[in-house]
Amino acid sequence: MDAKLQRRVQRYGWDAAAAHYEPGWASSLTLAQNRLISVAGLAPGMRVLETACGSGLVTARIAYAVGSAGEVTATDLSQAMVDATARMAAERGLAHVTTVRMDAEALDFPDAHFDAAVCALGLMYVPDPVRALTEMARVTRPGGRIAVTVWGERKNCGWCEIFPIVDARVASEVCPLFFGTGGRGVLEKMVSEAGLRDTAEWRDQVELVWPDADSLLSAMIDGGPVALAAKRFAPEVRAEVEAAFLGSVAAFLCHDGSYAIPAEFLTVAGRSPPSQRPKSDQFDDGS
Ligand SMILES: C[S@@+](CC[C@H](N)C(=O)[O-])C[C@H]1O[C@@H](n2cnc3c(N)ncnc32)[C@H](O)[C@@H]1O
Repeated sequence: MDAKLQRRVQRYGWDAAAAHYEPGWASSLTLAQNRLISVAGLAPGMRVLETACGSGLVTARIAYAVGSAGEVTATDLSQAMVDATARMAAERGLAHVTTVRMDAEALDFPDAHFDAAVCALGLMYVPDPVRALTEMARVTRPGGRIAVTVWGERKNCGWCEIFPIVDARVASEVCPLFFGTGGRGVLEKMVSEAGLRDTAEWRDQVELVWPDADSLLSAMIDGGPVALAAKRFAPEVRAEVEAAFLGSVAAFLCHDGSYAIPAEFLTVAGRSPPSQRPKSDQFDDGS
């Protein structure tokens, strides 16, 4: 899939998924977010950038960590996600959170503008993750912390069959790079290409729990990366996808009808390099 098309699929796909995202995923992602927040080096008064902020689950935690003397700028490619984060901030009275729709690969901020930069579960969707990491490094002051989390290895994520099941029923792969960042050594190499220093990584094995098949299907099909493809399915195709996916996770069905599915997250943190690179050329984000 070419980069421009991938950005369009992501932008409108996450617009479609936005309303279903938190009900489907919020509780499953807490452990990954705990890790990310704990290694992001946040402190009161900091100015922090978040890319691919989604509905603001991590944004809120950053905002509490930096306090009202700090600033959080939350960015995402999807307007519906940006709007959700802005609503969350308004509802919680987090006036130090600013939201803006922005591609992670083309950050419209000056060099060294932030004290730290964070990205939770967003790099897998970006056509050029090294470019996104390089941009995070550029806008973070030298020595400032950069922390990112992605899904881990495909073989350790028990729900991974959703992609081939949906791909078989649409014209092109819905999320070609999804497990591309979580393999052994891949993200480590990417952060080093982006110039980060003093890097460390954490691989966390977790169990994702959904109380029943309906909530699992809603998270996987309506609230995640295949949402745009799924919106266009005829009812009989949707039924086929649901049956095939439940078949693929049958081993994780518990006696009470809940599902406990293994998954892995990979978090990497490092420091922005001493000398900043020139701002990359702006480009058409295809949207
Ligand atoms: C799984 S959600 C993660 C949201 C949030 N960070 C969290 O952990 O709950 C992935 C997000 O990445 C965003 N995204 C995808 N491609 C992007 C890009 N090129 N630039 C910025 N955000 C992007 C999507 O719009 C979506 O909101």
